[in-house]
This record gives sequence, C-alpha cells and structure tokens, in this order.
Amino acid sequence: MKSPTRMPLVVANWKMNPTTSEEATRLFSAISASLKKTKATVVVAPPAIFLGALKQGMRKAPKHIALGAQNVHPLESGPHTGQLSVRMLYASGASYCIVGHSECRALGESDALVNAKVHALLKSRMTPILCVGELERDQSGKYYAVVETQVRASLHDVKKKDIEKVVIAYEPIWAISSGDGKGRTATPEDAHEMRLFIVKILTDLYGRTMAERVQILYGGSVNETNAEGIFTQSGVNGFLVGGAS
Ligand code: 13P
Repeated sequence: MKSPTRMPLVVANWKMNPTTSEEATRLFSAISASLKKTKATVVVAPPAIFLGALKQGMRKAPKHIALGAQNVHPLESGPHTGQLSVRMLYASGASYCIVGHSECRALGESDALVNAKVHALLKSRMTPILCVGELERDQSGKYYAVVETQVRASLHDVKKKDIEKVVIAYEPIWAISSGDGKGRTATPEDAHEMRLFIVKILTDLYGRTMAERVQILYGGSVNETNAEGIFTQSGVNGFLVGGAS
C-alpha cells in the first residue's frame, strides 16, 4: 500500500453543534491548545454563524489549524434566501468548505449542484472537501457505481491542474453515526478498497501522477478507538469526523 506523502488532514465537521458562540469558542480554544504538536492539518468546520468568532481565536492557533465551512452556494450574490457565498465564508475565516455531504444530498442536493460548488470554491482558491458515499453496500457491488457517478459528476470539467486542490472524503452513509441508527462502522478494508477505487477513477480522468496527489479522507463513526487502525491499514490521508469531533 502506498503511504500518504502529505501531512494527514483531519476535518472536524461540527454539524449543527454547539448551540452558542461561547461554547464554540471554548471548544475551539481547547482543541487548538491540545493540538500544538500534532503533525496533521486540522480543519474545524463549525456552523457558519460561529466562523467569525473562531476567526478571532485563529490568531492564537497553531499554523496547521484552519477553519472550514459546512456548505456554500455556488453563486456570488443574489436572491438566495439563507445561503452564503464563497466570498462571505472566506471573509469569515474559512479556507476549506465541505460540499456534497450526505446530509445535504438528502435534502435534494444534486451532483450538478455539488459540481457548481466545487468550481466556485476552486475559482476563489478555497479547498473543496467533496463528500461521496453510498447509502448501502449490496452483495453485487452496485455501490461502486454509486460512488463512481458521484465522483465523476461532482468533478465534471475540473481541470487537471486543479484536481490536487480538491479533497475527497469517502463517507458511506451506513457508517455515519447519525445514519440509520444501526451503529455499523466501516472496516479498514472497506476504506482501503474504496480509496483504491477512487484513485482508479481519478487515474482514468487525470492520469496516475495527479490521481495520487489527491487527498482522500474517510468519514463515518471515526473515533479515538478506531482511527489509528483505519489510518494505518487503509492508506487514507486522514478523516472527516462528525460526532467525535
Ligand atoms: P460521524 O463521525 O458522527 O459518523 O459523522 C461523519 C460525518 O458525517 C462527518 O461529515
């Protein structure tokens, strides 16, 4: 297995937590203090409304900690109630942005919309964290086709020179802790085989050299007990963590 060459990347997706700006600030300070010596890039993606407060805290945070947003609208401005543009998120301190999360896809987000978001982020030099993942694993392996369609459609027209700026997070929906309530977790082998499959799709699209430069994360019930095993045995470049973050 090829070992990751870049610094590992761990993204904390706080989803709709915590409930107050004070709590978010406290949690962020505690995280940055405890990660001073960590040899990984850590991205904290709080609810967007707390980004501004955490941006203040970034002044004291180590360089390998960054802020991320959980979603974005692909357009710059206009009549889009409740939406935030790339520029607004960037101005609030975010340099990464999650797109295509299954919890957003479940509300009707299409691959075409995810693709538009990826382009909008790349245009503004923000790093898209593109989530893909199947709802279920079936015996006949149809889940591969699900992931392949998501990867290809979400990266439509992304140029070869830009592909290494995209992070791909493989998040099988059945393994996400808030998912179907059955508490299933992916094994290192599950993450390993899907990582290889995604690298194969990227190789088809962009050639092997570029494909191997793309960081591929795993997400779905990652916690302090299973993280080391998945990281060392699957070859992923890091994690997208929900509940445990
Ligand atoms: P959990 O780590 O809570 O399973 O969430 C995963 C996730 O959805 C991160 O984006």
